[in-house]
Amino acid sequence: MAGKAKYSGKVLVAGATGRTGRWVVSRLQHYGVPVKVLVRSAEKAKAFGDVDTIVGKIQNDEDVAKAVAGCSAVISALGSSEVFGEASPGEVDRDGVIRLVDQAAKAGVKHFGLVSSMAVTKWYHPLNLFAGILTKKFEAEEHLRRVFGKEGRSYTIARPGGLKDGEPLRHDLHVDQGDRMWNGWINRSDVAELLVVSLWTEKAKNKTFEVINEGEEEHRQDGLDKYYDRLAG
Ligand SMILES: NC(=O)c1ccc[n+]([C@@H]2O[C@H](COP(=O)([O-])OP(=O)(O)OC[C@H]3O[C@@H](n4cnc5c(N)ncnc54)[C@H](OP(=O)(O)O)[C@@H]3O)[C@@H](O)[C@H]2O)c1
Repeated sequence: MAGKAKYSGKVLVAGATGRTGRWVVSRLQHYGVPVKVLVRSAEKAKAFGDVDTIVGKIQNDEDVAKAVAGCSAVISALGSSEVFGEASPGEVDRDGVIRLVDQAAKAGVKHFGLVSSMAVTKWYHPLNLFAGILTKKFEAEEHLRRVFGKEGRSYTIARPGGLKDGEPLRHDLHVDQGDRMWNGWINRSDVAELLVVSLWTEKAKNKTFEVINEGEEEHRQDGLDKYYDRLAG
């Protein structure tokens, strides 16, 4: 993108090698925003080219402290994929995000964007059979709101419906608050875009919201910041 970057600080992307995280990196680069990544695999990070990279795990305080150092914002697209171990909901979606929040606050990070999930408040939702993933995500959300909802810091929590792959800015979106939705899909790229624009969109600050496609037919979007106008508060 030609011209001045929309955001001047460096942004740490956690979960950068994931399917949403890769879009977060790519949309930050699209807007000319300096990026740092925390990755488990140096091999996978090669795809990013010349990007400031910390190889480490979200379980390790030192790795996480190195990752947040020098960053003014964090976007987490971390996600669990196994019932037990270092990629489990307890270790990643709850404790990993909590560790990232605490280290970020300690390092002076000002804004924290989190990919959470629709239905995190519904303990009885069938998805919770996967090692209590929804409840663990909700606990991490609560911690983020407590720590970054304070003066001088801000957060944006996106709770998407089912994630799909595809290009960003191709669908009308439907946003809501209060975890009242049960179904719906959205492209990972649009979730990434929403969190990237939250860096410089005042109405995105200190918001938690659900988001899905309004319809499956394509409808080009000039930008997604307008969806933050529809949120309360
Ligand atoms: N799938 C859905 O329909 C859906 C719906 C709503 C919300 N969500 C949530 O949306 C988020 C993004 O989903 P996604 O499909 O993009 O996830 P994904 O492709 O599985 O990516 C997850 C990322 O987390 C990283 N990670 C896992 N364990 C880690 C650890 N111990 N230390 C450091 N990094 C670690 C992975 O690293 P590696 O690349 O090294 O594995 C990967 O980069 C997740 O939180 C997911 O639960 C998903």
